[in-house]
Amino acid sequence: MLSLIVAMDPKQGIGLNGFLPWRIKEDLQLFKQATVNHKIIMGQTTFMGLPKALPNRHTIVVTTNKEFTLDIENVSVEYDLIDLLKRYEHSDEEVFVCGGSSIYKQSLPYVNRLCISHVKKEYTVDAWFPEFDWNQFEKVKEVEFEEFVYCEYIRKEDVK
Ligand SMILES: NC(=O)c1ccc[n+]([C@@H]2O[C@H](COP(=O)([O-])OP(=O)(O)OC[C@H]3O[C@@H](n4cnc5c(N)ncnc54)[C@H](OP(=O)(O)O)[C@@H]3O)[C@@H](O)[C@H]2O)c1
Repeated sequence: MLSLIVAMDPKQGIGLNGFLPWRIKEDLQLFKQATVNHKIIMGQTTFMGLPKALPNRHTIVVTTNKEFTLDIENVSVEYDLIDLLKRYEHSDEEVFVCGGSSIYKQSLPYVNRLCISHVKKEYTVDAWFPEFDWNQFEKVKEVEFEEFVYCEYIRKEDVK
């Protein structure tokens, strides 16, 4: 099973200069809670923007550059995102797609669940979450926080 996790502002902005445009502690805590002890998939750009590999989960970094390797505990590199998504699309294990823009765009057709923090304030950004058909998903959870609203959506055909 593939879940996608993202924080986006009202215009679907998600990043600035390779980093998150905001620092929202409660959202980082939610991200940690959701992804800990799981495999997480992220693009090479997003990974390189992290201060260090995220502890207590396995990060799969994707790049098309076959010469790119990383020798870091709990980090592996894959060179074909679509192949990776197909491997986990129907697995019992929940794997999280963690961005950024280009990885979200290519992953949307494969993911079963969206975990979205809708940040209330609009920020200056240079990276966006892709346009997609929200009608394909049904909202199943909504929790209000001071700076964002956390919502979960399930692909309609998967709603029991
Ligand atoms: N708000 C949030 O929740 C959130 C979450 C994550 C990231 N972000 C933000 O998103 C921005 C980065 O997004 P981005 O689109 O520039 O970069 P990205 O999606 O993190 O990484 C893009 C890279 O992934 C690799 N890639 C893309 N498609 C691939 C495929 N089919 N197979 C293998 N590798 C593939 C390529 O690496 P090569 O060029 O090396 O081939 C590509 O340059 C940053 O600002 C970051 O902070 C925000």
